[in-house]
This record gives sequence, structure tokens and C-alpha cells, in this order.
Amino acid sequence: MTMTRRFLFVLGSSRPDGNTELLARRAAEQLPPQVERRWIDLARHPLPDFEDLRHDSDHVRPTEGAVARLLDATLAATDVVIVSPLYWYSVSAHTKRYLDHWAGWLRTPGLDFKANMAGRTLWGVTALAHEEPEVADPLVGTLNNSAAYMGMRFGGVLLGNGSKPGDVLKDTEALARAKTFFAREAPLARFPYEAR
Ligand SMILES: Cc1cc2nc3c(=O)[nH]c(=O)nc-3n(C[C@H](O)[C@H](O)[C@H](O)COP(=O)(O)O)c2cc1C
Repeated sequence: MTMTRRFLFVLGSSRPDGNTELLARRAAEQLPPQVERRWIDLARHPLPDFEDLRHDSDHVRPTEGAVARLLDATLAATDVVIVSPLYWYSVSAHTKRYLDHWAGWLRTPGLDFKANMAGRTLWGVTALAHEEPEVADPLVGTLNNSAAYMGMRFGGVLLGNGSKPGDVLKDTEALARAKTFFAREAPLARFPYEAR
């Protein structure tokens, strides 16, 4: 990591101090000191339900409130980390609503959201109660395919196990993976049907 990176951690749990955030903070501790980090908890900055105006009128750039805060933070980030617990095998509703707003930003005149995000990196961190990590495949696919659609790089998903807050700190394998997670290569994301 040579150039200055700016990491945005988007917290999508419906409770504070949960396993997902704990795991993400362990991974973030390993980032070089010059890397900027910003944490935004979607539960504390709730986004309004996404309203799909793409095909009747244009979305206008928000200037205040949670949407403007999230948009500005997203555009400022070189790296967006989706920190979402596994809810019903995919991302949480808070997280999903944030991603839905990306669809509006793609259609907001003057933002050039897709061109701006292309080449940046999407990462995921999740915690799940299930012992078998492959049940999180829908979440991994959601993030991989979204990154591919956006022309972004994808660093993969750091998974940890836990049910009640703090459980993930007993998942020693997850804590070990957290130590090197952000040091890994993040190739340009590809849809599953595209040749590697
Ligand atoms: C609405 C909801 C849905 C959940 N769905 C799943 C699931 O599909 N699979 C799973 O393994 N755990 C599921 N869980 C358990 C959470 O993933 C687990 O408690 C996790 O540690 C929560 O992360 P947090 O502490 O960061 O909030 C669910 C929990 C809630 C509240």
C-alpha cells in the first residue's frame, strides 16, 4: 500500500459493539498509520428508504442529512468496507439500503458515480452464528457482483463466527485472518461468468 489510502468502514449491524465491528476493528488495527479511516454506523445515521426515481425524474444530489454524509464519505474513500452481520444469509437491511442508494447516485447528474468509483476497492467483513462459513456465500456474491458492476476491485470478505456480542473474539482463526486481511491483493472484480 504505497499511495495514501482512505478507508471508509460502513457499519451495518442493528446493535452497537457487535461481532462484525469487533472483527473489522481488529483488521483495521493492522493498516499502516498513514491510512485514513472513517467509521460510519448506519444505525446512528439512518438512511431514508431508497426511492427509485431513475426512470421518471432525475435524482438530485443531496446536500444535507445522512444521505449526503454517506455519499460524500463514499466518494472520498479509496476503499469501502462493508461491515455487515450476516442476516438471512446476506447483508443486513441497513447495509442493503446503503447499497440501494448507490443505484440513485449512479443516476444523479454531475456525480459521475460509476466513473469515480471504478478502480476503487470494495471489501467485506461479516459475522455469523452458523459454523459453516459457506452459508455466507450469498453475501459474498452480493458484494463481489456489485463490485464487478461498478468496475471496482474486490478484496473479499473476512468472516468470523459468533452469536452474542464478543463471541467473535473467541474465533482465533478469524482473528488471525484479520491480521493480514487488508494486506491481500484486491483484483478487479469479475462476474462469475467472466473468464479470470
Ligand atoms: C435478523 C437476523 C438475522 C440473522 N440471520 C443469520 C443467518 O442467516 N445466518 C447466521 O449464521 N446468523 C444469522 N444471524 C445471527 C448473527 O449473524 C450473529 O448474531 C452475528 O454475530 C451478529 O453480528 P453483530 O454482533 O455484528 O451484530 C442473524 C441475526 C439477526 C438479528
